[in-house]
Formats: sequence, structure tokens, C-alpha cells
Amino acid sequence: MILTEDVVFNALKRTWQPVANSESLEAGKVMGYTLLETELVIARFANGAVLAADVACPHKGARLSAGCIRDGELMCPYHGWRFDEKGACQSIPSLLEPNPDKQALSHLKTYATQERYGFIWVKLDPSLPANGEAHELPDIPEFEDARWTYRMGPPMKFQAGWRREVENYLDMSHFAFAHSSTLGVSADPRIRDMTITVQDDGGYQMDAPFPALDNNHEMPGKLQSAHHRRQRSYLPNFTTIRQSFHDGDERVLVHIPSPNTRESCTCFWSLAISPGFRGPAPESQIEFAVKVLDEDRQMCELQMPREVPINPTRGGWGVLVMPGDTLANTFQKQLRRWLSASVETKVTPN
Ligand code: FES
Ligand code: FE
Repeated sequence: MILTEDVVFNALKRTWQPVANSESLEAGKVMGYTLLETELVIARFANGAVLAADVACPHKGARLSAGCIRDGELMCPYHGWRFDEKGACQSIPSLLEPNPDKQALSHLKTYATQERYGFIWVKLDPSLPANGEAHELPDIPEFEDARWTYRMGPPMKFQAGWRREVENYLDMSHFAFAHSSTLGVSADPRIRDMTITVQDDGGYQMDAPFPALDNNHEMPGKLQSAHHRRQRSYLPNFTTIRQSFHDGDERVLVHIPSPNTRESCTCFWSLAISPGFRGPAPESQIEFAVKVLDEDRQMCELQMPREVPINPTRGGWGVLVMPGDTLANTFQKQLRRWLSASVETKVTPN
């Protein structure tokens, strides 16, 4: 099947995508975010409710992301029109008398939101894919277990398509090179003992031993030591990495490249650390991970074209080397299956 980038974005519009870290949007804050080429205003009201709506004001199109919360309502910066947490227009200051008809016409186009795992998620399109199953977030128990320690990573913008970023996150053969100044040079960059299994939900999992890394410049200590690595990917773009160390300590990372445009994405990520973890403090683990992710950003932004082709011709995904690129290939194949299923029919719920 020939797929298009429109098919990709339309399918992703029916999935939950992160738009902000919850903690960065305190009550009274208004921000902008571009999700799948849709420009949004995101606002949190005094009662904690989050509004996600098209950014353009229904009056003259001013960006509401430049507005503010005034007396519990979202106020446009241009002529002061105000909207409540459901997007209903509550006042038009230039009118001598309220005009309910004009207000009703001025309702913002809003989108479903939810907060989970420390992120604010938005679903742009409530319609269902051909299989009739609404996209839901996977359950990651470690992130909802009070005994574990959580830390949110600062979102990082990549000038590269979201599939480039997914591939990078799955890539097991770049550590000794792209991360030589942080993770250090592996004694042996060869890939061995990698097991990939396709899961019932269409996602896939990779298990592999991760070699000890050697670095004189950075001291992430335990994070450089040999461990077991399990990557679990949920389509289309939600990945977890579980690192199990020999002393029983564990870390789980959640990682989602939220597509902004066809050639840019923002990585949302967070970290769960097992109880009593013997290693660097959570803050320094985040600080270290930021450096590593920034190296990944540089590699993704070097790649041509900026997005992985969705219809590979021979060599269209690059010159591939097994087993190093097997996981990226699994991603592309499973993604194509998922997309193909999603375009068969579109069912709209009643
Ligand atoms: Fe928003 Fe006029 S453009 S109130
Ligand atoms: Fe990397």
C-alpha cells in the first residue's frame, strides 16, 4: 500500500500526544503548542482544568497563546474577548449589551485532554480507526507506584521528523560514536544477543544486554555499568526503556516524540527510579540524560531527509546493517501495518 504523510498525520490525530509537562503549566498559565501542524492554545484555569483549543481567536484571529487568564477566563490580548474552560465565549467587551448569538458563534474549537505520567495529552480527532478501537495510553505501572521516584525531563525540540527520533531511540549501534563524550566508548561496539518480539497490540519489544561503557570525562557511574535493557514500543510513538542492573536496581524511561510539523518534533520524556536506587541522585540522572539526548538531537538533525520515507523503495530506509538496524526496521514495518489498518475505513462514534 502506498502511504502518504497525510495518512500518517490523520492517523496520529486519533492518538494521544503529549503537548506539555503538567508541572510546567501551573494555574493561570497560557501557552502555545503546534501538534501535527495544528496550532493550539493550552491554558490551565484556577480549578486545575486544562483547555486545548485552536489558537486563533474567533474574532480577528489573534493568537490566544499570547493571552492570559483574567478573572478565571482566557482573555484574548487584542480586544479582550473572554472564554471559559470549555471554550465558550463569555464576554465581548466592545458590546453595549451582551449578544448571546454572537457569543455562541464564537465558541473555540476544543480538543480532548488528559493528564497522565506527568504530561498533558491532547487527542485532536475523536473519530475511531477502522478496527473501532479508540487509542488509549499504555499502562506503565512504575510511573504510578508511589514507591518509585519520578522525574520529568525538560521537553527537547528536534528539527527532524518524529520517525527519525523514534529510530534514534531504538538504535543500539550509535552509543560508542554519537555518545562517545557522555556515555563513553564501549569496549565492543558490536551488537549481540538482541531479541525482538512483536506484541499482540502490534507494538514490539527488544531485549539485549547492554555493555559496560568506559568514559574518563563524565562520571554517571552506575549508568555506565553493564545492565539488561528492555525496550517496549507502543504504536505509534510511545517507547519505554527498562534498565535492570545486576544489583536489582531498575530505571524505566518513558519517551515520546510528539510531532510538531512533518520535519520537527518535541521529545517528551521522564524517568522512574526503583526504590532505594544505589546510584546518582535523580537530578543528576536527569542532567546527564539531557546531555545524551542533546547528542541524539544533533545526530537526528544531521540526517537527510529530515523524515524517514514512509514508502521505502529499495534502499529507501538507508543502507541497513543487521542486527544493528533490525529494531528500526521492525518499527517501520509495524508502523506501516498500523497505518494501513487505520485507513481502511473511518468510523465516527455516535
Ligand atoms: Fe481576539 Fe479580537 S482578535 S478579541
Ligand atoms: Fe542515543
